[in-house]
Amino acid sequence: MDELQQLPIPLLVWYRENARVLPWRSDPTPYHVWISEIMLQQTRVAAVLEYYRRFLEAAPDVAALAALPQDQLMKLWQGLGYYSRARNLQKAAEQIMTAHNGIFPNTYEDIRALAGVGDYTAGAISSIAFGRPVPAVDGNVLRVTARITGDGGDISTPAMKKRVTGALAGVISLDAPGDFNQAMMELGATICLPNGAPLCEKCPAAGFCRAFQEGRTGELPVKAARKARRVEERTVYLLFYRDSIALRRRPGRGLLAGLWEYPNELSGRTDWLERWGLSVPALEKAGTGRHIFTHIEWQMTALSGELDSPVLPEGWVWADRGALRDVYAVPNAFRSFDRLVGDRLGHF
Ligand code: ADE
Repeated sequence: MDELQQLPIPLLVWYRENARVLPWRSDPTPYHVWISEIMLQQTRVAAVLEYYRRFLEAAPDVAALAALPQDQLMKLWQGLGYYSRARNLQKAAEQIMTAHNGIFPNTYEDIRALAGVGDYTAGAISSIAFGRPVPAVDGNVLRVTARITGDGGDISTPAMKKRVTGALAGVISLDAPGDFNQAMMELGATICLPNGAPLCEKCPAAGFCRAFQEGRTGELPVKAARKARRVEERTVYLLFYRDSIALRRRPGRGLLAGLWEYPNELSGRTDWLERWGLSVPALEKAGTGRHIFTHIEWQMTALSGELDSPVLPEGWVWADRGALRDVYAVPNAFRSFDRLVGDRLGHF
């Protein structure tokens, strides 16, 4: 992997000229870096910015995060997806309060031991907030490194991740490891783009990048196809009473744990209303929606109607427009029905 020896200087020069100005970069405390890195997992910078601002306003430090009520935490995360990230943030804040006296730990090992923190995040925090020379290898960095070195290994395997981490550990800038890691991420996010569309003419590594030199940017990195998603057909019940709609809380474990939803079930059975003890004089088909999760795809049909009584099953609630906006965290999976619900309750 000789190509990597040539990387640090042009990479850092490029980064210092091209780094995006981002809020967690202007004040890179461990807390700021941690929150931003967790939010940025599977999520683009543009989508994160407003969430980051609101999150820091509600929870400006570790102690405030540890004390945040669950429902407020979920509401702050609503729409970002992968909600276990938020739950783990709070778990880790509690760990920091009890095991580290509220002081953010400053070694790679102690950071890596926090809930929700894997090799990548531990490397990012250690390097950006504490100046420790540890690589931070995410999907972007794997792609950039595979191309520069011409490595045809499958980037979804632990062996390839280990190889890349080892190779970068040998060249990471000792005096600016945080900049080095962020420059690699930035190169992946803005220049060394996936799906055969990299902007090599702008890349500081073009002079020694194996993939570019050999015309193989379309073939690298190699990534095994993941298996097809399971498709679920679900029926979603939009049940109104006066100016409110019925919500129920999802189970505490599994997909979208603890979030609120319009009652929905696998299509097939049609006696759900009876089972719930509800009576809807006129139930009609109101629309369809689709949502893609990592491992599942929901194909949804919405039925809507007006209940003849406000009595709901145990644990369900009525939410009016204000409560949908400010109180209950309903995941993006149900966004297809926002317009339908908004037309009935007023848009939220
Ligand atoms: N993606 C994840 N972490 C990032 C960071 N620190 N800068 C830019 N993109 C990122």
